[in-house]
Amino acid sequence: MEKLIVEGGIPLRGSVRISGAKNAALPLIAATLLAPGRHRLGNVPNLRDTRTFLKLMENLGVRHEREGDVLTIDSTDLRSAEAPYDLVKTMRASVLVLGPLLTRMGKAKVSMPGGCAIGARPINFHITGLEKLGATCRLEHGYVDAEIDGRLQGDTVYFDIPTVTGTENLLMAAVLAEGTTILKNAAREPEIANLIDMLTGMGARIEGRNTDRLTIHGVDELRPADCDIIPDRIEAGTYLIAIAATGGEGTVTHCNPAHLPSLLEKLRLAGLIVDEGDSTISIRWPQAKPRTLKSVDIKTMPFPGYPTDLQAQFMALMALSTDVCVITETIFENRFMHVAELQRMGADIRIDGHSCVINGRGLQGLSGAQVMATDLRASSSLVIGGLAASGRTEISRIYHLERGYENLVEKLTGLGARVWKEQE
Ligand code: EPZ
Repeated sequence: MEKLIVEGGIPLRGSVRISGAKNAALPLIAATLLAPGRHRLGNVPNLRDTRTFLKLMENLGVRHEREGDVLTIDSTDLRSAEAPYDLVKTMRASVLVLGPLLTRMGKAKVSMPGGCAIGARPINFHITGLEKLGATCRLEHGYVDAEIDGRLQGDTVYFDIPTVTGTENLLMAAVLAEGTTILKNAAREPEIANLIDMLTGMGARIEGRNTDRLTIHGVDELRPADCDIIPDRIEAGTYLIAIAATGGEGTVTHCNPAHLPSLLEKLRLAGLIVDEGDSTISIRWPQAKPRTLKSVDIKTMPFPGYPTDLQAQFMALMALSTDVCVITETIFENRFMHVAELQRMGADIRIDGHSCVINGRGLQGLSGAQVMATDLRASSSLVIGGLAASGRTEISRIYHLERGYENLVEKLTGLGARVWKEQE
């Protein structure tokens, strides 16, 4: 296995190009199952997770080829409706084939994803939603075995929690159902709008884009689409926080500032100057010396609230602040795996149930250490800590990072960081 070495204390400067969003690419690749023919997806990031998802699609009979960041996908000849455990266990987003397979083939056998480091990650809302549309779902031997005799029937589905992939699964199931489906308390993340745009391009009829109430009028068939993946707001947020944490100045390009409303406000409250362009965000420190980072509370919420996927990264930044703040995680039950590792770097953080109390120790508050990555976003908070710390940090199990950050070493090096990979 590989580890990442980070020489800390260097202010990051310059600009970094943001890739397509992992959490939009996965549902949009799944959506190609809904219509035979050649689909074209642009701005597709080349990540461990997108490669894994395409392996799963190959299993189903889908052909694909990549030319740069353009992916051509042909789902004409589906030969299977089964997503096997050995693929699903490595990436729980594989559950996204459930809805499209069921509505296109009348059946789907998808391994239960199982939990992950950040929580149990149940899919009960996906299943009860599909059953509301008339599917029969049997849970046995670790698989969801779903089938429908004829077509799914449109109905109203209410989500207890605005589940992102649950909303995506039900959207993809409903577009070919008979009649009208209404999704209530649906997720409103920008990745949902990206999926709606692709489905609409395929001939689907969907109302309520960007709201928590989606109305889908089923159609008899769909056609292949040509759609671009939106920029990765979590990658953009990660780099903005890294630039701030190192006392640097820089710009993220090819991004969408409207997708990060809460993070940008929190960075301004912490004392940073954040300027928004059409597809860029710039961040810098005020001229005043000495530099101090204000302590700012955050509470993770569904979009447009503060994103849970940027919670760990902001915590690394707050470890450098001058006072005390509280970070509350309301989405997942175990998303503080980065705390123990940040403590190894000198961070003064106390876990109290679903909240952490961070006693900031100032901009020199962290020192390099050997730490271990546990999940994708926790890993990026350790990179940020290492970039801001004095001395060297070694991060093991960096395959977590490669799931969601394209060309991480090249992009950080381009900002002046001294980072490289070594064999463990
Ligand atoms: C998506 O996961 C993202 N993954 C996650 O990003 C992200 O953290 C999460 O949404 C929240 O924004 C993808 O889009 C591929 P949820 P998802 O269903 O859809 C509970 C990353 O780092 N719930 O919105 O699985 C669930 O346990 C990943 O890129 C149920 O109880 O999240 C959680 O507490 C991590 N039953 C809450 O709802 C269900 O059937 C929100 O989960 C579904 C969800």
